[in-house]
Amino acid sequence: MIKTVVLTGLLLLFQFGSGICYDLKTGEALFNDPSLGTNGKSCATCHPNGKGLEEAGEYNVEMLTEFMNFCIRDALKGQLLPHDDPRLAAMEKYVRTFYKPKK
Ligand code: HEC
Repeated sequence: MIKTVVLTGLLLLFQFGSGICYDLKTGEALFNDPSLGTNGKSCATCHPNGKGLEEAGEYNVEMLTEFMNFCIRDALKGQLLPHDDPRLAAMEKYVRTFYKPKK
């Protein structure tokens, strides 16, 4: 009984953990992917190594998603993504890795 619980726990942890890694990799790939837009630029063109996104980690999910979508539309000349699009969720996780809290 205990064994089953522990094993199930480990399995869940593993799946959850690899899910996060998967999202981060996907987010990074999308961040560098010019096919989100139509003008040949990617997020990384203007935000190399997260330039300008050091404080974006302070936004809540809705705000950050909104900002990313504005950049997709205005800076990449692309199509707004639906709010529940997994690509936005993956990029959001990635953008948060640039967060540098102010001292
Ligand atoms: C053509 C240049 C350009 C491209 C390409 C671009 N951005 Fe931006 N982005 C900007 C500018 C300019 C701002 C506003 C700058 C500021 O507030 O310091 C901004 C602001 C942001 C913000 C809000 C930052 C803040 O702290 O308020 C986020 C988040 C963001 N961009 C994400 C993205 C993502 C994700 C992509 C790719 C889908 C992207 N940007 C593509 C130029 C660009």
